[in-house]
Amino acid sequence: MAILVTGGAGYIGSHTCVELLNAGYEVVVVDNLYNSSEESLRRVQEITGKKLKFYELDILDREALDKVFENENIESVIHFAGYKAVGESVSKPLEYYYNNVTGTLVLTDVMRKHGCTSIVFSSSATVYGDPAFVPITEECPVGGVTNPYGRTKFMIEQILKDYYVADQKWNIILLRYFNPIGAHVSGKIGEDPKGIPNNLMPYVSQVAIGKLKTLGVFGNDYDTKDGTGVRDYIHVVDLARGHVKALDKIEEMKKNGADEVKIYNLGTGNGVSVLDLVHAFEKVIGRELPYEIKPRRAGDIATCYADPSKAERELHWKAEYDIDRMCEDSWRWQSANPNGYAE
Ligand code: NAD
Ligand code: WQD
Repeated sequence: MAILVTGGAGYIGSHTCVELLNAGYEVVVVDNLYNSSEESLRRVQEITGKKLKFYELDILDREALDKVFENENIESVIHFAGYKAVGESVSKPLEYYYNNVTGTLVLTDVMRKHGCTSIVFSSSATVYGDPAFVPITEECPVGGVTNPYGRTKFMIEQILKDYYVADQKWNIILLRYFNPIGAHVSGKIGEDPKGIPNNLMPYVSQVAIGKLKTLGVFGNDYDTKDGTGVRDYIHVVDLARGHVKALDKIEEMKKNGADEVKIYNLGTGNGVSVLDLVHAFEKVIGRELPYEIKPRRAGDIATCYADPSKAERELHWKAEYDIDRMCEDSWRWQSANPNGYAE
């Protein structure tokens, strides 16, 4: 029996493949390599000394996906495949709804056809919009999302909940990630954004390596300790391990029957400001990073951090790594691979 990982060549997917292989799972990856490279999967196998199976395909391609389910004995699916750039989603809403929502519809339809009804879905803290309270628990209201990307996550959560209402055979876990950063300790796999990064950590590391000149800090007049935005950064390896724990939970749900769609925040519970992160990174590289204060970025919120206690109680999962370790591992990856996976 194998775990199907959609989007497994990507940033979070590749780290999750490492943890799944280390935990003894058989892994089958499908990815169209739209935002990734097959090299990441070669390195996953190098790190673990284990093999995985890879199918280069688009999850919108029903026939191709169908063949994977015919060839492989898939017991559960971890569904990462999707587009994820918030800004781009505002200018390309159709592409985002089509790829993320329709992709999930096709995937789950093929799963159902083959009697596979267990899925762990990559959702996001973005579904909380500007959160009603912090730390954010899973009960915090969702839906006040300000961009199409976030709305795809909100919609997919709703769709999966509706599946469960119609058919309690579905075992569904929604994982709401906070801000994943960092890289595998080997420095062999990490985040490899195309073009100029939108997110803070890849921007900071590219300034550190000299590819970008100065970091723009988007606003220093928020109601936070130093005026800059506060987020819950989580080490990608901790996040990946959360998926292994989610699969344990799926097994329990299969045995005992699922009583609901399970939802978990995956974060550390610590709020870290933009300047905290910059200073933690400076400590790692032993020099100052050039930055300048810029206007606020449209759509940004002041503060977002998790209450991760439900995941600790029910998944027996807790983030281990702190912001210093996240910066160390991001820097090891960035400095060993200044051009990411490109030669
Ligand atoms: P990523 O872009 O590195 O990985 C996504 C992978 O999916 C890529 O390898 C891409 O090629 C593949 N893909 C996209 N559309 C596909 C399709 N139609 N068919 C097959 N493959 C397809 O992104 P990531 O950071 O690893 O994120 C993984 C998931 O987690 C995404 O669903 C994302 O929305 C979600 N998420 C990410 C973050 C974050 O900050 N990175 C936070 C919350 C949630
Ligand atoms: C973090 C902080 C910025 C870049 C995004 C998505 C979210 C989730 C995770 C997928 C903010 C500041 C950033 C820069 C800066 N992804 N910043 N200069 O916006 O919290 O979350 O990624 O689901 O949905 O919205 O992450 O890394 O972009 O920003 O000052 O060049 O860093 O203003 O305070 P964000 P981020």
